[in-house]
Amino acid sequence: MSIISNCTASAIKKAASVLASGDLVAFPTETVYGLGADATNKDGIARIYQVKGRPSDHPLIVHISSHTQLDKWAREVPEYAITLAKTFWPGPMTLVLPKTKLAQDFITGAQDNVALRVPSHPIAQALLIEFEKQGGLGIAAPSANRFGKVSPTTAAAVESELGNFLNDSDQILDGGTSAVGVESTIIDCTQDSPVILRPGAVSIEMIENLLSIKLKSLNTISNQIRVPGLLKSHYSPNAKVFLSGTPKNGDGLIALSNIKTPEGVIRLASPVNNDEYARLLYNALRQGDTLGLLNVYAVPPNNEGVGLAVNDRLKKAAR
Ligand code: TXA
Ligand code: MG
Repeated sequence: MSIISNCTASAIKKAASVLASGDLVAFPTETVYGLGADATNKDGIARIYQVKGRPSDHPLIVHISSHTQLDKWAREVPEYAITLAKTFWPGPMTLVLPKTKLAQDFITGAQDNVALRVPSHPIAQALLIEFEKQGGLGIAAPSANRFGKVSPTTAAAVESELGNFLNDSDQILDGGTSAVGVESTIIDCTQDSPVILRPGAVSIEMIENLLSIKLKSLNTISNQIRVPGLLKSHYSPNAKVFLSGTPKNGDGLIALSNIKTPEGVIRLASPVNNDEYARLLYNALRQGDTLGLLNVYAVPPNNEGVGLAVNDRLKKAAR
């Protein structure tokens, strides 16, 4: 596996051809790094599951370059989904829509719908455009971590998660630290009105304001839908994560900057607001593991904006 730190036009061309030949390319997005394969290549997709150690019935997100590619993969797109796509793409949002034949069972976990996203990171954009130029139709990419573990927000984190499982011909594209830091907002668009399956940086407030609607609350739906992010153990570091209580000597602490670090406690992040909390969270959890900490205490932020997504991930990391 090679890490490409200078993503020139010719490097992107090469990466697209790596995908086209059925190998894997981990690439940066504004949310987290993804582990990409040609979304129409059954063997390539099988390798994603193998490298991640992920159960094969858990569906993948297909990444496309623009909302103009939507109807290749989705057969019915409600008006509100078009509005969402035109407003928040490219960006940290994934739409679940009724699928076309292109979205085969090995992508969708044999469901009748497919998850689609247009990422905004310039390297992800360039890779998607180049892949489509070479005849590709979409890049399937889960977060580039082992199943149940913390998503990577840097190329180095991808290497430490997956380096042992990738082949010589696979690549990791280095695009710096992901700006958002937590995974995309997933919205189920298969019903009369949108339902949030996973909170992210496209917040409930943003969606409600745009569509002039009130969304159903997350809690009422979270037990019924098959999304691995909703499974019990997820986003979990090796350390035990606590969301209340007092850290002791040698424990880690993640909290907004206005909260002081008790003596002997190792501060892992001091974000100034919810956006920065999201951006720093996964790296802080990773750092706790690198330092071999047994316990990490996180003081959850409020639920405003991306704060809801941070709370969601913290709760899962703490289970
Ligand atoms: O920000 C993100 O969304 C990142 C970047 C790389 O795009 N990707 C990501 O993928 O987080 P992953 O596979 O780690 O999480 C995607 C979630 C999974 O929980 C999966 O079950 C759910 O999306 N999902 C995928 N297809 C679905 C579908 N058709 N219906 C419902 N949930 C779906
Ligand atoms: Mg994931």
